[in-house]
Amino acid sequence: MKTKITEMFGIEHPIIQGGMHYVGFAEMAAAVSNAGGLGIITGLTQRTPENLRKEIRRCKEMTSKPFGVNLTFLPAITPPDYPGFVRTIIQEGIKIVETAGNNPSQVMPFFKEAGVKVIHKCTSVRHSKKAEAIGCDAVSVDGFECGGHPGEDDVPNFILLPRAAEELKIPFVASGGMADGRSLVAALSLGAEGMNMGTRFMATKEAPIHQNVKDALVKATELDTRLIMRPLRNTERVLNNAGVDKILAMEKEKGTNVKFEDIIAQVGGVYPKIMQQGDMDAGAWSCGMVAGLIHDVPTVKELIDRIMTEAEDIIGKRLKGMAAA
Ligand SMILES: Cc1cc2nc3c(=O)[nH]c(=O)nc-3n(C[C@H](O)[C@H](O)[C@H](O)COP(=O)(O)O)c2cc1C
Repeated sequence: MKTKITEMFGIEHPIIQGGMHYVGFAEMAAAVSNAGGLGIITGLTQRTPENLRKEIRRCKEMTSKPFGVNLTFLPAITPPDYPGFVRTIIQEGIKIVETAGNNPSQVMPFFKEAGVKVIHKCTSVRHSKKAEAIGCDAVSVDGFECGGHPGEDDVPNFILLPRAAEELKIPFVASGGMADGRSLVAALSLGAEGMNMGTRFMATKEAPIHQNVKDALVKATELDTRLIMRPLRNTERVLNNAGVDKILAMEKEKGTNVKFEDIIAQVGGVYPKIMQQGDMDAGAWSCGMVAGLIHDVPTVKELIDRIMTEAEDIIGKRLKGMAAA
């Protein structure tokens, strides 16, 4: 399939694997890129620019196809070494960066000068327009359904995507709730040039995470995610578990007075415990409503091939047949 996104990134299928903390290691990114999509290494999981350099080099050994790096700009008391991460990305010859969180305007001149294409993840039309204005090449439009941080506007993709199409000149991909060929065709219909998936890629053979996480995703339904940290205006969609129950109880008790310190035990540093040790009640981990559409753990290639076959069938048979009748 050819879209503006496959052309821009030099990939075969318009499917991107979004950055995922403690999931987006070289194994994940290489598997997606080898299957014809765009794999992305999560920069901050590597903690230091030197570790990221090693991870990029590992990925290069696993694939000769294009892959990208995610750089998430979070408000932090002690910020990560962002200039160092940017330098490493450029020095290692990475040509695609997915930015997320705060507006990446400060790093744009460096990436532009190095010929790096930037796709910024946005949860609103106004942030998407801002990304376009500061020179981003594309945006990933993340609807309310998404795993991770959906923002505070709560606009689902059935509205957000066509609104983005009305306002943007640069291409965008649909993100949040994407799982299969139906999602891809719907996304294209609503104006997107492809789709970005997070949660769905976790339930694959190659995802370098504990089997307990994959089993939890297959078992979960669309009713099993919760929104935490809303009173902090840092809303995150996570899979419900005992740790999440504690966060929600604390938020209920303290209302708008709840502080990050009140829930730190369930949100700070829990990813390694969950993703690597499989301790499923350790705390909050990002997960989309799309869990309800995940029923198996295929290889990445099986998943991507299935998506493309299904999408082509829907377009070429179902829709074409309806239109012709
Ligand atoms: C476990 C997990 C961790 C994530 N970590 C990050 C991250 O570090 N940076 C980021 O930009 N997005 C992160 N995301 C968001 C994804 O890149 C993607 O935008 C989101 O998962 C799309 O929604 P979906 O899960 O419905 O596919 C994460 C998502 C998940 C499920």
